[in-house]
Amino acid sequence: MFTIFRGGQSGAWRVTRFAPVKGAGLVRTPALSSVYSASIALPILPSTNSWRLAGIASHVRYVERAEKEKLVAVQAGLGRPEASLAALIPIKKSAAWWDLTQEERRRIFEDKSQHIAGSMKYLPAIARQLYHCRDLGEPFDFLTWFEFEPGHADMFEELVGTLRRTEEWNYVEREVDIRVERERLDAG
Ligand code: HEM
Repeated sequence: MFTIFRGGQSGAWRVTRFAPVKGAGLVRTPALSSVYSASIALPILPSTNSWRLAGIASHVRYVERAEKEKLVAVQAGLGRPEASLAALIPIKKSAAWWDLTQEERRRIFEDKSQHIAGSMKYLPAIARQLYHCRDLGEPFDFLTWFEFEPGHADMFEELVGTLRRTEEWNYVEREVDIRVERERLDAG
């Protein structure tokens, strides 16, 4: 199944911030929605004020057994009623990254950048899902999605700031940071 994010005029999530972090941005839209779909259907009409990005929730590439057990023990699932804030951060890494071997990438990703060890403390406050799209011919390699409650917004800024200063991020050549909000599902 594909997960398709659509930036458009309407959708479950209201866009609150839309920042090109590195490389080409995307058209800022007032709303964001996501759907599961068995196919990446083409839009009926090309549109200048909307966009679609597709990805697949795939198997892990770098996680080792002990890390997997820790993650599974503490992570939260998507869709918590109190998690009314979210972030969609599409990321593309450089040719230099993809030229490395799996072992070399793991060394940069974890031994040097501590992507997992350093981020673990943000669980379960931040719920996350990684979607892969490099092999789908999409403009980005990854769509990263995070959900959290308003009280954890500062914590999320700290996490993103920390990751962007790592060696891993030297290989990021395109990144867009889209922040959204919705009504709390448990409100009123
Ligand atoms: C909430 C804390 C976070 C945790 C626990 C976490 C954990 C992980 C783990 C375990 C993987 C490896 C998956 C695999 O083995 O294939 C991963 C990959 C990734 N994460 Fe995070 N992450 C967090 C936050 C973030 C944030 C805030 C961003 C973006 C700003 C991000 C961007 C990515 C990307 C792009 C990948 C794919 C890297 C690649 O395959 O080259 N992560 N993350």
